[in-house]
Amino acid sequence: MASRIRIAPSILSADFARLGQEVEAVDRAGADLIHIDVMDGHFVPNLTIGPVVVRALRPHSKKPFDCHLMIAPADPYIAAFAEAGADIISIHPEAGPHPHRTLQLIRSLGKKAGYVLNPGTPIETIDPLFDMIDLLLIMTVNPGFGGQEFLGSQLEKIRAARVRIENSGREVMLEVDGGINPGTARQAIAAGADVLVAGTAVFHSGDYASAIASLRG
Ligand code: DX5
Ligand code: ZN
Repeated sequence: MASRIRIAPSILSADFARLGQEVEAVDRAGADLIHIDVMDGHFVPNLTIGPVVVRALRPHSKKPFDCHLMIAPADPYIAAFAEAGADIISIHPEAGPHPHRTLQLIRSLGKKAGYVLNPGTPIETIDPLFDMIDLLLIMTVNPGFGGQEFLGSQLEKIRAARVRIENSGREVMLEVDGGINPGTARQAIAAGADVLVAGTAVFHSGDYASAIASLRG
């Protein structure tokens, strides 16, 4: 069985002119993790946040910083994100030829390692690396932008990921990212997810606390 549901607001949909206060506000509103979308305009068609911003945000919350790297290559920047205050660093296997090496690097820096499956990336991709991860992230949109529609076609992959985690006997977080609202949250939880990323549903709501509460199912 999945454990307690955790909510990770994605600051991609926050007011960037007030990012520190936005992080404090979702922290107070019950966020379990702070999801930080790092994009390079190359691996994905959008440019967002680098390690200097992560460092600047670090004093604004004690909650774990969940850094989702959508950059290629990722390896040259892993140490900078670790030093800036990331707690979890997640990578896409398409971002470089040596994901095993990248996961090793993340763990060698004392951080939790996450692995992200794009909608077109099969679940089997994780099998040879399963022992190396602390978090498995299933994308339910194409990465790059907030506000896209949840891809129900990925529910099967969430279920297959849950089976792998249970069979492993290990504590691996199963995170879902993209198009999460109260309705799709319920579907993702039923499929086995236990960490839900939500950008639009939290930051475009009038009330962060009730938006977060309404995602827990
Ligand atoms: C998309 C990002 C997501 C995004 C989710 O590439 O990885 O974290 O911010 O936004 P919503 O919740 O609006 O789909
Ligand atoms: Zn993300």
